[in-house]
Amino acid sequence: MSEWKSPICLKVILIGNAGVGKSSFMNRYVNYRFTSSYRATIGADFLSKEVNISERPVILQIWDTAGTERFQSLGTPLYRGSHCCMLVFDVTSKASFSALEVWREEFLIQGEPLDSSNFPFIVVGNKTDLSNREVSGSLQALHWCERIGAQYFEGSAKEDVDVDKAFLSAAQAALQQY
Ligand code: GTP
Repeated sequence: MSEWKSPICLKVILIGNAGVGKSSFMNRYVNYRFTSSYRATIGADFLSKEVNISERPVILQIWDTAGTERFQSLGTPLYRGSHCCMLVFDVTSKASFSALEVWREEFLIQGEPLDSSNFPFIVVGNKTDLSNREVSGSLQALHWCERIGAQYFEGSAKEDVDVDKAFLSAAQAALQQY
């Protein structure tokens, strides 16, 4: 029997350009669903999922933010209190990958983590099911992740490739911050 009584709440936030698949990634993980229609997130939204991390019951509170610029000012106060940040891009869009540097900087400024040099980021390259790839995972993405000390995952919300793996890693990293 687990020695932990009540679950702890860990906050994981997803940020990145509009349309990269943040909502889809979250929905695939929490609701086991995918839809091809696109509905832009307004402000932010969250879903919760109960998981066990190292036998410890955890409520993962996953925040999905708007990538659209006009909603970003609404999103930034939501960065505070995060235990892990997922930086999401679309492997078929070089622009969405290049934008992550700014998203990360913005997160560190607005989110005010206690120790910004050790705050855990997970970088996710989504839409690997598509063939018109513009970002090489092994070259560009991994290289940047090494530089910023982030873990890298790529997969597909559509085909359910490595979504669980990325969130498990986010949850583990978040637990270290608790
Ligand atoms: P904002 O809310 O505007 O920030 O967008 P978002 O990053 O949440 O993107 P969203 O999840 O709404 O997905 C945008 C579009 O990409 C939708 O039409 C999704 O169906 C599609 N999409 C998401 N993930 C994948 C994927 O893994 N593969 C493919 N082919 N399409 C995907």
